[in-house]
Amino acid sequence: MMYLRVTKVLLAGLLLAALEPASCKFTSRVRVPDPDKPMTRDWPCPSAVDIDPCVCESDEYFNLLIDCSEVIDEMELFRVFEASFPFYDIMELTIIQDPLDPYHNIRVLQERVFGRITFERIRITGTKIAEVHEEALVKSHDYLTYLNLANNQLKSFPFETLVSYSKLDTLLIDNNNFTYLYSIESASLHTLSVSGNHNLLFDLDVFTKAPALTAIYMANIDLDELPPNLFDTLQNIKTISLEDNYLKALPENAFLPVGDTITQLILNGNLINDIYHDAIKGMSGHGFLSMVRNKMEYLESTVWLPIFEQAINGSINLAGNPLVCGCDIAWLMLAADDRYLSVLTETTTCNEGTVVHSLDKQYFVEHCPAIIGRPMQLHTTVLYVTPVCHRRKMWSQSVWASLWQIVVHPKQSHGNGLFSPTSFSNTLLISFLFLSS
Ligand SMILES: *[C@@H]1O[C@H](CO)[C@@H](O)[C@H](O)[C@H]1NC(C)=O
Ligand SMILES: *[C@@H]1O[C@H](CO)[C@@H](O)[C@H](O)[C@H]1NC(C)=O
Repeated sequence: MMYLRVTKVLLAGLLLAALEPASCKFTSRVRVPDPDKPMTRDWPCPSAVDIDPCVCESDEYFNLLIDCSEVIDEMELFRVFEASFPFYDIMELTIIQDPLDPYHNIRVLQERVFGRITFERIRITGTKIAEVHEEALVKSHDYLTYLNLANNQLKSFPFETLVSYSKLDTLLIDNNNFTYLYSIESASLHTLSVSGNHNLLFDLDVFTKAPALTAIYMANIDLDELPPNLFDTLQNIKTISLEDNYLKALPENAFLPVGDTITQLILNGNLINDIYHDAIKGMSGHGFLSMVRNKMEYLESTVWLPIFEQAINGSINLAGNPLVCGCDIAWLMLAADDRYLSVLTETTTCNEGTVVHSLDKQYFVEHCPAIIGRPMQLHTTVLYVTPVCHRRKMWSQSVWASLWQIVVHPKQSHGNGLFSPTSFSNTLLISFLFLSS
């Protein structure tokens, strides 16, 4: 029992160590007192009085951690970092304040505010900082790995200098007052989070110069239209979150990264009703697509079957959508060995509340055209139809409805027809696959 617990703790520790990004706690460094400098009482930290109200701590590996949460304004910050420091390489700077607190008013990170001091990790949150001067962190160019400036009041940030932070792995600027995200240029950046900046605009090439990105969070930025090809150049993207926006449609090539690398695609809390053919590609085999709280009604096989195929060992969550659960999901219900149903989460329900997993398959067998898993000879007839109504590039629901008429009356179409429509601007190509037995 004891042994088991110890093993568990050890394992947890190893896991944490693996997850912790290039971080302090496991690096050890050699600190040798400089003979030319008086040794401070708080060595290897600077004297506590000199840096008051900041607090310095050294861990067992001689990493220095400085907390300046009590600093009241930028002048005080300047003064602290003018103190005599035995070492200039600080592992971590923390400033955590409450934006509603009237006594703490840092409003800008000025040029060289940190003097000669370099940081590997910076966490400044909850302050009233609206602006970061391009030379504010200049000394940290070759050291900074983690920069967390979430929950401030930032309107501007020197994005153009990012390229010179050669080790920057994580940039978090959520919940600020940014209105524009400039093209991110970085060879090292893995995680970028810009969620919660309302009405955020960005260039279409915003990620093209940051090919190493593995996680992008753009939740709650009032995005109502997703441009195609935004993520095309990303070579190892794993997580994309566009949660809580106003997206109504996903265009063709909305998600088309270089490889099949996406393990988490989070689109919860949008208004998505239209998904264009080939909107989602690049899901990894065990990927997770979460599209909870959207407006999906129909899951046409032409759009959705390829998505389920990509994430065939993963999972797709469509809970909180007004799914009609008609013959449009026959392919999902009737596939051999529940091939697709096993991908859909058990939380996914139809618009009237029935769990999709609990629907009666027999209904689909009896009421929907037989299309699944019948190895028979197929003859393809191609039909070009000009839509009655093409208000949008996508097919309107009424067009779909009339097409279903063709399909559900197989006698009229001289066969047991399956159609696989692909839209070409204003013309719809329908392949009728006639089953001949
Ligand atoms: C930032 O936005 C918040 C919330 O919208 C607002 O209260 C605050 O005044 C803004 N700050 C600045 C500096 O514009
Ligand atoms: C899914 O898992 C099976 C069995 O482990 C494997 O053979 C197959 O290649 C996987 N498919 C994908 C798309 O990852």
